[in-house]
Amino acid sequence: MVHSYQHISVEPIAPAIGAEVTGVDLSQPLTDEVFGEIHQAFLDHIALFFRDQSLTPDQQVAFAARFGPIGRYPFAEPVDGNPDVIAIIKEAHQTSNFGGIWHTDTTYLEEPSMGSMLYARQVPAVGGDTMWSNMYAAYDALSDGMKELLSRLRGINSAAKNKDTLRMDHLEDGAMTGKDAEKMDVKMASHPVVRTHPETGRKSLFISEAHTIGFEGMTEAESRPILDFLFVHAINEEFTCRFRWSTNTLAVWDNRCGLHYPLNDYHGHRREMHRITLQGDIPV
Ligand code: SIN
Repeated sequence: MVHSYQHISVEPIAPAIGAEVTGVDLSQPLTDEVFGEIHQAFLDHIALFFRDQSLTPDQQVAFAARFGPIGRYPFAEPVDGNPDVIAIIKEAHQTSNFGGIWHTDTTYLEEPSMGSMLYARQVPAVGGDTMWSNMYAAYDALSDGMKELLSRLRGINSAAKNKDTLRMDHLEDGAMTGKDAEKMDVKMASHPVVRTHPETGRKSLFISEAHTIGFEGMTEAESRPILDFLFVHAINEEFTCRFRWSTNTLAVWDNRCGLHYPLNDYHGHRREMHRITLQGDIPV
């Protein structure tokens, strides 16, 4: 369903997912009417982008808090003075980027993140785009037979899979300490492979290449072919958008029904983002 808006403008950047929102200054307190429209656009488009916003970390936190309780990201230090915000930085000399694999945030937790908010403080002139993929569309496009099979499965999600993409400090030294590895290895959770969005009531595919290692009650060899199919299916180009950042753009997206992927094509240039993770609930 396409909604109309009285207080903001919402321009989709792709048919499946992603919209730019204009006509709002996020540094100011928002009325319930304005925030209500932003929230509706968030449910409709999964990922929203607000360009030319001038935000302090406190103002970013104030906007994030309108969506619900703020969560903590377990593997990165917060920015100075603000425990709710982490800095995601790739320096010009570094070659790995944070989260550089298709994923949805923190599915290795019992209560994975509801959404995430990223504010661009410094971006390369070209490169460093982020892609998103619509997991309602991915689910809807499956055959009835596959939907039926998946409806009975729970995916096991582990922080230890692709762990180097999850941490900021690996970018400096490349080596995890045993303590880090242990901390990550214990973070595992199983969730329905098909979840129902608590606000829209729609079903979506809830797996990601970064974290899903298999299905409950199946061996790895049995799980692998189904996962391989789903990882490719989930990022069919028609389900995706690609966003080109500019400094001072804020993005907010719904982790319950979307995957994202930051491209790592800007070696030699610095990129700095401030991220807030929004608290989620137990997927059903
Ligand atoms: C993330 O996975 O939160 C990082 C996204 C990005 O850097 O574009």
